[in-house]
Amino acid sequence: MEVVELNHPLIEHKLSILRDEKTGTKEFREIIGEIASVLCYEAMKDVKLKEVEIKTPLEKMKIGQLEEDNYAFVPILRAGMGMLDGVITVVPNAKIGHIGMYRNEKTFEPVNYFFKVPKDIEKREVFLLDPMLATGGSACDAIELLKSKGVKKINFLCIIAAPEGLKVVTEKHPDVKIFCAHIDRELNENKYICPGLGDAGDRIYGTK
Ligand code: PRP
Ligand code: URA
Repeated sequence: MEVVELNHPLIEHKLSILRDEKTGTKEFREIIGEIASVLCYEAMKDVKLKEVEIKTPLEKMKIGQLEEDNYAFVPILRAGMGMLDGVITVVPNAKIGHIGMYRNEKTFEPVNYFFKVPKDIEKREVFLLDPMLATGGSACDAIELLKSKGVKKINFLCIIAAPEGLKVVTEKHPDVKIFCAHIDRELNENKYICPGLGDAGDRIYGTK
């Protein structure tokens, strides 16, 4: 089980803008993307590279290159789509799957409404994307869907995680590595993360 929290003054600075209720849709979306790309660098810190030979303007050299076919990004709709632009700039040729999920507003249980992933998903290391890990219900269901397709290596990338949700996901899926920009204090009675940033989907798409 592994949970990595980005610990960097510039990420705290970005979070201060993201969390501010006065921040508008455009800036909110841009910062979600920026933090997602930093999370992607962190989550891929230990990937194995293939050695290739290239020629610089001065001489030949051997150097490591990423085998982009080994990876897939899977955003959890809707809010996870906000992180996709950020990670795809880092690994432009990764394949992309989609999982549609929303929380029932009364029970807070996730409801799955869409699932489409690349055919060879079981051969790929997957990076699940969702800005908010609250109760952990959506993350667990998404992980289970991927495992049912034979995926063996899963990483969960989020912007804000609640301690309650982290406990649930790490207990049920100790093999999944979680990367977040910040672990917040707690969930409130409506299962929103506090202090949090509000409803990520609504703030990304301006739907409220
Ligand atoms: C939010 C968020 C996660 C989920 C987290 O999605 O993006 O998917 O809630 O909550 P949980 O950890 O308690 O399951 P939401 O249901 O608001 O859907 P949306 O992305 O379409 O706005
Ligand atoms: N989903 C959100 O978008 N925000 C929360 O705080 C919890 C769930």
